[in-house]
Amino acid sequence: MITDTAEFVKRVDGAASYIRNALSGRPIPSVCIVLGSGLGPLSSMAEDALEIPYKEIPGFPVSTAPGHKGALIAGTLSGKPVFMMNGRFHYYEGYPMETVTFYVRVMGRLGVKALFLTNAAGGIDLDMKVPELVAITDHLSFLAEPVLRGPNIAEFGTRFPDQCHVYDPALTDLLENCAKDLGIRMRRGIYAYSKGPQYETPAEIRAWRTLGAACVGMSTVPEAIAASHMGIRVAAVSCITNMAAGITGNALSEQEVLDNAALASENSCALVREFIKRIEI
Ligand code: HPA
Repeated sequence: MITDTAEFVKRVDGAASYIRNALSGRPIPSVCIVLGSGLGPLSSMAEDALEIPYKEIPGFPVSTAPGHKGALIAGTLSGKPVFMMNGRFHYYEGYPMETVTFYVRVMGRLGVKALFLTNAAGGIDLDMKVPELVAITDHLSFLAEPVLRGPNIAEFGTRFPDQCHVYDPALTDLLENCAKDLGIRMRRGIYAYSKGPQYETPAEIRAWRTLGAACVGMSTVPEAIAASHMGIRVAAVSCITNMAAGITGNALSEQEVLDNAALASENSCALVREFIKRIEI
């Protein structure tokens, strides 16, 4: 939990000014895309790309999750300047929530207006087909460590932020239209946040289903909460890489997640590119 708010703001602003300097005259992007499992290939699709390893950015954590590279990319995608986070930070890695969401704070201070979060998730809806995509419309996070606990930082946002529209409805409509026009199967759904790193039990999945969740994963929600606190608009997509625990009778494995994320990669990358082409921000 943050105790010294002035020191924390200084750390965030230090990282932001390091990135601003590294851009050396390039426009500061208004959109940041977070590359979840399967979206790694997008990092090489940016033109004129500048790659800044996280370990070079003062105050930035390093990502330890498998397949998460650990670099911020600034480049052009579909003709627009974008940031891409190639690797994110998860609570299960042992980071406190202010570290998991540190990059979101930095993006906010850089003037980023929209955060596009992507992730791999387990399908809870029984009629889901791996590896289809889900546009996240809301989340269930009340079993998680509260992201905004501790003294509020007024420069970032209000003490009691509204959560009715964490996922921007207009951006979600845009995502849906992009998927439709590209012929990509995508549904809307509620994402249940699981702290991990263990997968869920079948009983937990039945509980989430009763509560209306369509899918479950170990990322995205803390970042979306921090972004909404700062007034950053959020769009989020899950790639269903496996049916959630207890549905097929098979054990869940990281390999299954990575293999199916790779299968969905072409669609996921096409969707992100189309979304960036059409977004007006
Ligand atoms: N549960 C939690 N996180 C996940 C899953 C899952 O089934 N699949 C991919 N990420």
